[in-house]
Amino acid sequence: MMEWTDRHCRMLHRALTRRTLLYTEMVTAEAVIRGDRARLLGFDTREHPVALQLGGAEPARLAEAAKIGADFGYDEINLNVGCPSDRVQSGRFGACLMLEPELVAECAAAMNRAVDVPVTVKCRIGVDEQEPEIALRELIARCKNAGIATFIVHARKAWLQGLSPKENRDVPPLDYDLVARVKTENPDLTIVMNGGIATLDEAATHLRHVDGVMLGRAAYHNPGMLAEVDARFFGGAPVRIEDAVAQYVDYVAHQLEHGVPLNAMTRHMLGLFHGQPGARAFRRHLSENATRPGANIETLRDALSQLSTPRERAA
Ligand SMILES: Cc1cc2nc3c(=O)[nH]c(=O)nc-3n(C[C@H](O)[C@H](O)[C@H](O)COP(=O)(O)O)c2cc1C
Repeated sequence: MMEWTDRHCRMLHRALTRRTLLYTEMVTAEAVIRGDRARLLGFDTREHPVALQLGGAEPARLAEAAKIGADFGYDEINLNVGCPSDRVQSGRFGACLMLEPELVAECAAAMNRAVDVPVTVKCRIGVDEQEPEIALRELIARCKNAGIATFIVHARKAWLQGLSPKENRDVPPLDYDLVARVKTENPDLTIVMNGGIATLDEAATHLRHVDGVMLGRAAYHNPGMLAEVDARFFGGAPVRIEDAVAQYVDYVAHQLEHGVPLNAMTRHMLGLFHGQPGARAFRRHLSENATRPGANIETLRDALSQLSTPRERAA
């Protein structure tokens, strides 16, 4: 998620769950090819498994960017066919590509040829006046023919005119049933449900019908929920939030030494103690102090000390 799931956010989330697949923000193919690759693509090997999401609409450019991403070590390259922002539409990619399934398939095929890691597609169920029953199936069928086996479906339309990107994440109604039916029709594909999934109980319900779930806003606003994921869904070891916090504090201390501003890392923690005693004081302390000149690891430790039970006072 742009501006949200940067490498620091991913390190926090990885400390909370070892098993989930994490995604980068969308990076355009052109930026990957021409931009500062270390800044745009650099990640910590502890983030694995991590997928790089690309935006673009030119097969050759996307293939080149995918290759660069795979060479950087990403475990999956994902093509964005879901983002409705104006900036993206003027570049003719993102959600408006739902109108050009043939082109999406060409892009995906070119990317697939360029890399050995899986290439996946994240899409909507349709845009504007499209009939989702037709648009989603058409996109998936063409991409499947092009060798794509995994689709993450944000189960609502995007309206390219008239709704802001934010409204496009809330206003068009969700159609989970359509996504589930598409899974039934394509048992050989991996279909991942996305959109409006707020709790792990809801995730569990979706998993009866599809192969995976993607959580966006819920995971970002309430990252503590991720600590339950490994044990509940992967049969992995339970993660204690205090251990994850201690791990992230070490990471923050190390990054501070390399000149990363404190707030760039602590801003992702604001929802971590959601609903727990002292959470508000923790957030307030960070909001007021993390951007001040001289903010350092003690600022974070002081914020953590606002939490009122020893359990949360991990660091
Ligand atoms: C701040 C923000 C940035 C986003 N950036 C991206 C992005 O870069 N690529 C993408 O595929 N989706 C992006 N999304 C959409 C989410 O990935 C997701 O599809 C959407 O929020 C619905 O899922 P949710 O209800 O679990 O959040 C973004 C969402 C938000 C709130």
